[in-house]
This record gives sequence, structure tokens and C-alpha cells, in this order.
Amino acid sequence: MNKPKALLLEGIDPIASQLLEDAGLEVENHKQALQGEELLEATKDATVLGIRSKSRLDADFFKKRPNLISIGCFCIGTDQMPLSEAARHGVAVFNSPFCNTRSVAELTIAEIIALNRRLADRSRDLHEGRWLKSAAGAHEIRGRTLGIVGYGHIGSQLSVLAETIGMRVIFHDVAQKLALGNARRMSSLESLLKESDVVSLHVPDSPTTRNLIGKPQISAMREGAMIINNARGSVVDLEALASALQSGHLGGAAVDVYPTEPRSNDEGFSSPLAGLPNVILTPHIGGSTLEAQRSIAEDTAGKISRYLQEGSSLSSVSIPQVDLPSRRPNQHRILHFHRNVPGVLSRLHTMLAELNVNINAEYLQSDVDTSYVILDVDAVNGEAVKRGMQSIEETIRVRTLF
Ligand code: NAI
Repeated sequence: MNKPKALLLEGIDPIASQLLEDAGLEVENHKQALQGEELLEATKDATVLGIRSKSRLDADFFKKRPNLISIGCFCIGTDQMPLSEAARHGVAVFNSPFCNTRSVAELTIAEIIALNRRLADRSRDLHEGRWLKSAAGAHEIRGRTLGIVGYGHIGSQLSVLAETIGMRVIFHDVAQKLALGNARRMSSLESLLKESDVVSLHVPDSPTTRNLIGKPQISAMREGAMIINNARGSVVDLEALASALQSGHLGGAAVDVYPTEPRSNDEGFSSPLAGLPNVILTPHIGGSTLEAQRSIAEDTAGKISRYLQEGSSLSSVSIPQVDLPSRRPNQHRILHFHRNVPGVLSRLHTMLAELNVNINAEYLQSDVDTSYVILDVDAVNGEAVKRGMQSIEETIRVRTLF
């Protein structure tokens, strides 16, 4: 029998192929993204599709590719496709939002030191033939105060690393977060801004975080303090930041993310911060390390494998999430997606009873439109059960693990 096929695009780390092959798939790899007809042709016999940020899938794609069971976004975001369409067709989409946490935290540590020693300026001076040996404005970071705004995956990891190299850490988060190590929670953003030598932002993009750091917040910061934004471009008002750097109120900044970013390496870039002293600008590379890529590939391929082999949809961003135990021997597992309307479960149960099939375990999770029910049943009448499931009008997809 032919093995099910996984098509992996955009140069996904080879560990993903290895894991999917271990799960019984035949894997085809492409270095580039495929679009339009090319993508349709390449996926015509694929069960799994793996993409990164350059691919685009529309509603029509899902209609034309009912053979796809799962899509892996081997990256952070999932805006490459309408997730509602994936849900409507019972396609489980997985991504890996947290595997580059450490990479962002490490970059931030590097920037705290670099800003405090004015490394970018000193290096540029020498490249341009100027020898400026001076201690002016240069500080050890030991004993200085780091204010972390957003104490989630990255913020809390940064907290631990910063303390290990001798910084005092304070943080502010809208959610109640456990302070790690000796870090101290601040009840307001204002109190954090007043006490910090370096403010590092690690909040998501949301209506409450847009321009979270604007003119009033910058004015509240200490004379000579520094700002790092490795979170989202919408969080800092760049004009206000540029003017505080020009006036000397702030002593430096490191920025990795921008309100609008070039879509490719061929497009130009401009920013009000360009050319200002002690400002490090990086092209959204906070999470871009080979280690993060590998870890993302491992995480996403692992989630797809579990879904294919057991039906577990934990952390899927498109279908209801169900964490399932391993299959018991001599049992069939039926994975059934249906439209979330009254009466479907009772019809499923009646159909199984009529086929004399005993249900040994049942799991159900629903969202507004879709329900995902998993039945572990006696290993009898497998094909008849599948046909019975498919004949139920509200069925979106049935998969059976024999
Ligand atoms: P997370 O979701 O784990 O943590 C975010 C934290 O911010 C949460 O604890 C939340 O309660 C808090 N928060 C939300 N609104 C807030 C507000 N108004 N004030 C204070 N706290 C608030 O997110 P994670 O993984 O730590 O990521 C943080 C940011 O880093 C995100 O914006 C993410 O997009 C960005 N990021 C950037 C990367 C890069 O390449 N530069 C790579 C990875 C993530």
C-alpha cells in the first residue's frame, strides 16, 4: 500500500522529515514556497502540508484539496490561510508559537550589554577610521535595573537570564504572574518606568498595547535610560522615541520590530531611528536562529504525528482541541468532525448500536461551528462503521485508525 505523503515547503529543518517518516509518511521537500496551480498540483496526493511564512492558501485551496488532513505552519504565525476554512473542512492546523523564546531572550541580553557599552557606535567609529577610546556613557550591567513589560514566555525567560548576570529585575504584566527568582512585580507601568535603567518590551500586539510606550511614558523614564523593543512594531511610538534620543533624555534603544516591515530582503527600509547614536536596529531577527528553526520543526512535526497516529489535536489552531490517551489494543478509533448542531451524537450512537459495535470510550470537544468526537470501539465492522459515519448529513470528515 502507498504511504501517505507529506509535502514540506520553504526549506523546513530536516528533523521534520525524519519525524514524519518515523510516523509512516513519505516526505517530499522543496526549498521554495509554491503558489497557485503549482501548489495545487504538488498537493494533489498529499495528506500533510508543511509551510512557513511565505506560502498563501485561500478558501478555494481547501475546497480543492479534501485529501489534506493536517497543515503545519513551521513558524510562529498562522495568517497564511483563513483558519475558519481549515476548520470548515476539518483540517487540523498546527504551529509553534514558543520555540524561539530563548533566541529572543538571548538577543535582548546581548543588546542590554551592547547599549550600555555603546558597542554599535564604537564599532562603527573604528570601521570608519575613528579611534574613540573613552569610558563616557559606558556601564557595567551588574546592579542595574531591568524593567520587563510583559512577563510571558520571553519576558520571564529574560528575567532569569538577566538575574544570572547580576541585574536587578522588576516587571509589569496585566495578568497575575509568578515572579521568578528575585524579580519584583510592579503594580503599574508608570512605577516600572520610573525605576528602570533599561526597559524591555515583551507584550503581544493588541488594542491595549498599541503605542503602549509613547511620549508620556518616555517622559516618565529615567534620564539616560534605554528601551528595547523585540516584541511588536505597534507597541512603541517611534517618533516619540526618536525625539527622546535626539534630545538626550534617553541614552539608547534597540529595535527589532517595526510598524511596517519590508516584505522581502529586496525591499528598502527607512525609520525615524536610522542614524541616531546608540541605536541598534535589527531586521526582525529576534527569533531567527538555527536552534529555533530546529526546535520549531521538531515541535510542529511532533504535533502532526500525534494527530495522525492518535487523533490528539492539542494546540491545534483550527479544530477543537482534544488530548487523547494512546489507543488500546484491539480497538478501532473513529475520529469524526461534524457541524455543531443538535442530534448528531444520538444518530452516531444509534448507528453504532445497529451495527452491534460497542463504544468503550468517547471524547468530545466543540467550538461554535464544529465538533470533534472520538470514539474507541470494538474492532468489528470497521468499514461499515465508516460508511455509516459518512452518511450522516452533518459529517465534515471521518478518519478511522484501525
Ligand atoms: P506571551 O503571550 O507568552 O507573553 C506576553 C505577556 O504580555 C503575557 O504575560 C500578557 O499577560 C502580557 N501583556 C499583555 N498585554 C499587556 C499589557 N498591556 N501590559 C503588560 N503586559 C501585558 O508572549 P511571548 O511569547 O513572550 O512573546 C512576546 C512578544 O514577542 C510578542 O509580541 C511576540 O509577537 C514577540 N516575538 C517577537 C519575536 C522576534 O523575532 N522579535 C519572536 C517571538 C516573539
